[in-house]
Amino acid sequence: MRGILFVLLPFSLLAKSSFITPMEYASSLYKNPRGIGCDKCHGESGEGKTVAKYEHKNEKKSFSAPSINSMDFSNFYTSLNVRKNGMPRYFLTQKEIKALYFYLQEKKKESSLNVK
Ligand code: HEC
Repeated sequence: MRGILFVLLPFSLLAKSSFITPMEYASSLYKNPRGIGCDKCHGESGEGKTVAKYEHKNEKKSFSAPSINSMDFSNFYTSLNVRKNGMPRYFLTQKEIKALYFYLQEKKKESSLNVK
């Protein structure tokens, strides 16, 4: 009995780290990049959202982030490598940007499947 445990334990630890799917990786990167999560401003699926409403000099204002789930990859990539007003600069690698793009595409597929 003991022997079996010794054999199984290291395997299950290994399985834990290697069975993370590309979508799980991409999702965790989207929600937790090196900085504030993209979802905080762009919404759970990149659909865009109003982040804050406030009043400035008696005028109602709001701060919102655009939808980012319908861009082609090259625009998406370029946007993440230039300074944007109201968005932090992340310095993501190409691989990370691809993963984020992948995440948004998958979420979009999911939501179109849910539409009846
Ligand atoms: C603090 C809020 C905030 C966070 C966090 C944030 N963004 Fe943005 N993002 C914005 C705003 C505001 C704009 C619009 C900037 C502009 O119009 O110049 C924008 C623009 C973009 C654009 C360009 C959209 C277009 O149509 O040109 C992309 C792509 C983008 N963000 C991706 C991301 C990704 C990926 C993350 C996470 C790594 C992220 N953003 C995190 C606020 C945010």
